[in-house]
Amino acid sequence: MTLDLFEPEAGPSVEGRIEPLGPQSCVLRGFALPTEQALVESIDQVTAAAPFRHMVTPGGQTMSVALTNCGPLGWITDRRGYRYSPVDPLTQHPWPAMPACFLSLAQSAAEAAGFADFTPDACLINRYEPGSRMGLHQDRDEQDFNQPIVSVSLGIPAVFQFGGLTRQDRPTRIPLFHGDVVVWGGVDRLRFHGILTVKEAMHPLLGARRINFTFRKAG
Ligand code: SIN
Ligand code: FE2
Repeated sequence: MTLDLFEPEAGPSVEGRIEPLGPQSCVLRGFALPTEQALVESIDQVTAAAPFRHMVTPGGQTMSVALTNCGPLGWITDRRGYRYSPVDPLTQHPWPAMPACFLSLAQSAAEAAGFADFTPDACLINRYEPGSRMGLHQDRDEQDFNQPIVSVSLGIPAVFQFGGLTRQDRPTRIPLFHGDVVVWGGVDRLRFHGILTVKEAMHPLLGARRINFTFRKAG
């Protein structure tokens, strides 16, 4: 375990700093820190009703990341494909409502990144444990690519890969820490992205876990 888990060596994770990633994408360092307590409580409430589970890709692979959702629509995958569903396939109930602190964080982060009037109807919550990873992909199961993606990271750090519009473009690697928010939209909306294998670490609020939640306008 290392000690520099929550702050990188130099200034980049200083709360409030905006780091551009592209013409219409950026990292808002520490943007979620002021509401971390409410966010963690809300995650516990959502996952009590809709537990984290490991889903299977259309190709038959079990994802190393466990996921759940809140809000009117939830992203799911199974042998039949990737899609959004208003119903949790595990419980057959609607997904839990999007907590108010989630929605206001998503909207204020979108606005800070230059996207006014973001109206997310889906929030995918991913849980990474050391050894979990997410391969390079585009978020393209949504109806409307005019609205951005807002992605909040809590818990242990991870390395975000942010590529181009084709799988061949070499991604840049951006370390993400507890409280960081990444926003991409507009000309950057369909850029490939992923998460490198998460390393062993411990976080005081979340233990050996990274929780990422991603807001989208899906329907
Ligand atoms: C995702 O692309 O759905 C997740 C990205 C992340 O975990 O930061
Ligand atoms: Fe994604």
